[in-house]
Amino acid sequence: MAFSFIQLADPQFGMYASLSGIDNPSFDRLTDLGMNITKVPKTTGFQYETARYEMAIAAANKLDPEFVITCGDMCNDKENPADEYTELMRITSTLSKTIPMYWVAGNHDVTNQPTPESLSRYHKLYGDDVYSFDREDSHFVVINSTVCQDPSLVWNEWERQVEFLTSDLRDARGNGSRHMVVFTHHPPFLTFPDEDDSWLVIPKKRRRVLIDLFMKYGVSHVFSGHWHRNHYSYFRKLQIVATSSVGYPLGGDPSGFRIVNVYDDRIEHEFFALGSPPENIEQAYKFG
Ligand SMILES: [Fe+2]
Repeated sequence: MAFSFIQLADPQFGMYASLSGIDNPSFDRLTDLGMNITKVPKTTGFQYETARYEMAIAAANKLDPEFVITCGDMCNDKENPADEYTELMRITSTLSKTIPMYWVAGNHDVTNQPTPESLSRYHKLYGDDVYSFDREDSHFVVINSTVCQDPSLVWNEWERQVEFLTSDLRDARGNGSRHMVVFTHHPPFLTFPDEDDSWLVIPKKRRRVLIDLFMKYGVSHVFSGHWHRNHYSYFRKLQIVATSSVGYPLGGDPSGFRIVNVYDDRIEHEFFALGSPPENIEQAYKFG
């Protein structure tokens, strides 16, 4: 095996409290949308997320991956995440200094309709939202899928992403990268590349542009979050992976994290519940 990394999604500090004490109409509406919400008395703070993110970081320290990447929705409050962010970073600082953390922008981090201001705030808190990096001879690209969802107020940012992806993927392919992997918050699609638009995925018009680039340059995997549940879909040789949340899960999967093992000839990965991590990182192998 060449190396391993850990993918996290949606630690979303503050989400549990925001959904506590929910009234019946809101509960019914969210349940109708397929969200598996638990009715609990009103609470405040983010102890729920603290406990779970601490377990994820502890598991990463024990398993010692090449890097950790968090695929968006680090904090829940779209307007003022100050306290949530402080707690996120307090725990992140306990990650071993030998393990880099990469961030991916989620819709809660840049608002559902990104603006120059919300993107600028993101850059101050987390760094660039569109970038790439290499490990050994594999290439990893991070994009901002909320801009793909709704670029109406930042159209130039959508164009910048397409230009970046086009040149970055072309260069990586030209340099002989063995694996090309993309990280997003929203999965591009649920089942089929031409399925209808919804809040769950990247809209068809822009999804098509991205998928064409992924196919053209041989991206093999897209790892994402956003659904707070595990999901796997395929288009030809491209696999789309949605990973359940570190924080509040909204499907049948528990809070957890994904180990991705990168081999010379393939990529394999497996999701683990926070309470039952593997003894060592090589044990993950379920999905290729
Ligand atoms: Fe989320």
